[in-house]
Amino acid sequence: MTAPVVAVVVVAAGSGTRLGAAEPKAFVPVRGRSILEHALSGVFLMADAAQVVVVAPAERLEVARELAERVAGPAAAHVTVVAGGDTRQQSVEAGLAVLEPGIEIVLVHDSARAFTPASQFEAVVAGVRATGGGVIPGLAVADTIKQLDWTGAVERTVDRSQLVAVQTPQGFPREGLLAAYATANEDYTDDAAVFAAAGLPVTVVDGDPLAFKITTPWDLRRAEAIVDENAPAS
Ligand code: CTP
Ligand code: MG
Repeated sequence: MTAPVVAVVVVAAGSGTRLGAAEPKAFVPVRGRSILEHALSGVFLMADAAQVVVVAPAERLEVARELAERVAGPAAAHVTVVAGGDTRQQSVEAGLAVLEPGIEIVLVHDSARAFTPASQFEAVVAGVRATGGGVIPGLAVADTIKQLDWTGAVERTVDRSQLVAVQTPQGFPREGLLAAYATANEDYTDDAAVFAAAGLPVTVVDGDPLAFKITTPWDLRRAEAIVDENAPAS
């Protein structure tokens, strides 16, 4: 059996309001390389991606293209760069619209999860191959979680053993994902929610703390520490 043809859609069109930097989050440097470059380095480490779609802010398409081609190198997957939308869901839709024919499995990945290990991409692809459904990485929740009532008072403690904090890449069979997005109307916060709303099954594989999403200035410091730890000693 030949391996299914995989594409990765990297969404990088957000503004990064919570990070509060002077430029869109994907272009904020972490020790001299942008968040998007760090993210794409991980994506291109994944074997067998036939296409990598970068969804960038409309006013940054050229710089995103140059950067992606530089990180990809000559032998890498086919890179397509498109403009994103006002919401993450619209940005994913823009990426899905340019998938090449023949793609069988689509991974949707947040550029902001810049240090996601290659093993996480491989585990998600393997999961989609094995199950034929959607597959998402999840981490056990460490904190106790409380549900509040409408006044803000604690109503109950949620059973943590049944919760996971969800990351990306999230992987799906192409046909199902396109059909789910074609019928999605609400604003969902992740792709698995769109997929599940269409009645399609989603399962979870182990996530990795390194796949955290750079969201706040504190996360940026954590990102710098990761680069420093991995830098060759001089
Ligand atoms: N994203 C996108 N298009 C949008 C919004 C988000 O492509 N309109 C992408 C971001 O670039 C990011 C991922 O979706 O890689 C996860 O979003 P988030 O971490 O919320 O990034 P931002 O929306 O940029 O940040 P904030 O919510 O703080 O403004
Ligand atoms: Mg956001």
